Amino acid sequence: MKTILVTGATSGIGLEASVQLATQGHRVVMVGRDEQKTRACVEDVKRRSSSGSVEFLLADFSSQASVRALADAYRAKFDRLDVLVNNAGSVFKDRGVTKDGIENTFALNHLGYFLLTNLLLDLVVKSAPSRIVIVSSANHYRGTMDLDDLGYEKGGYSIMAAYGRSKLGNVLMMRGLVKRLEGKGVTVNALHPGGVATNIYSGAPGWAKPILAVVKALFLISPEEGGQTITYLASSPEVEGKTGLYFEKNRPKTCAPLGRDDALAEKLWAKSAELVKL
Ligand SMILES: NC(=O)c1ccc[n+]([C@@H]2O[C@H](COP(=O)([O-])OP(=O)(O)OC[C@H]3O[C@@H](n4cnc5c(N)ncnc54)[C@H](OP(=O)(O)O)[C@@H]3O)[C@@H](O)[C@H]2O)c1
Repeated sequence: MKTILVTGATSGIGLEASVQLATQGHRVVMVGRDEQKTRACVEDVKRRSSSGSVEFLLADFSSQASVRALADAYRAKFDRLDVLVNNAGSVFKDRGVTKDGIENTFALNHLGYFLLTNLLLDLVVKSAPSRIVIVSSANHYRGTMDLDDLGYEKGGYSIMAAYGRSKLGNVLMMRGLVKRLEGKGVTVNALHPGGVATNIYSGAPGWAKPILAVVKALFLISPEEGGQTITYLASSPEVEGKTGLYFEKNRPKTCAPLGRDDALAEKLWAKSAELVKL
């Protein structure tokens, strides 16, 4: 039985992966941001998985203080972490900044993963053989990285540009982690779950919603299917020992050239560490 922490576990693919991993007999720690909703999701996962080993912690990944409190709360309760699933994410139709002064999308989708992973890294290493799963997106192929203007202060913000940048950040973070974890028995892999009918685009502009509803009904896979891509990397023996890979449909795929740029990965690592004050 592995102890698995899943962020963004109160909706979409994180919720379904929690059900699947609990069904496999693992202890699942679900992270949500709203206590009432998270408690309801824990009950839902317990019922659907027939497992009693489902717990929760709370955090707002848009707040660095909240992520730090989450890491402390996790350490206070658990002494191992076999699999860390970084999944909580969203999109923002208008540019805005968090209370830490960082553009919303980059703060939540990239720095949220970066800070939590670094704060819990020693526990993951201690629990080796262990895994870190990074939910990225095929949108990373369209991502650009401007280290001098990560938050589009100089202009150029769009919902998908910011999203692509944050998801490219996820792939580059994987690269940085693989290097730092060499020989430590921890694998790190990223994935695109497919186009999944979840709540991810609830932050999209009003005009896009009817189009998204049609796309959702006609082309997208179910959250259960999307969740399986997390479950595969989190627990399948097939990926035992495999690291540094980007998966689509449970198969490794070459990620974007920028996602394979080691120098960029190091520069982003340094900038991210500075932004989260590590
Ligand atoms: N759906 C797709 O087609 C698709 C494609 C590629 C990649 N992805 C990636 O998959 C991941 C999960 O998305 P999803 O599609 O399952 O979307 P979703 O249904 O909207 O679920 C997102 C999860 O993240 C949580 N979350 C959002 N903002 C948060 C915050 N500030 N603090 C803490 N938790 C927060 C949500 O909490 P609440 O329940 O409280 O809202 C929810 O649990 C994301 O990283 C996304 O980029 C999705």
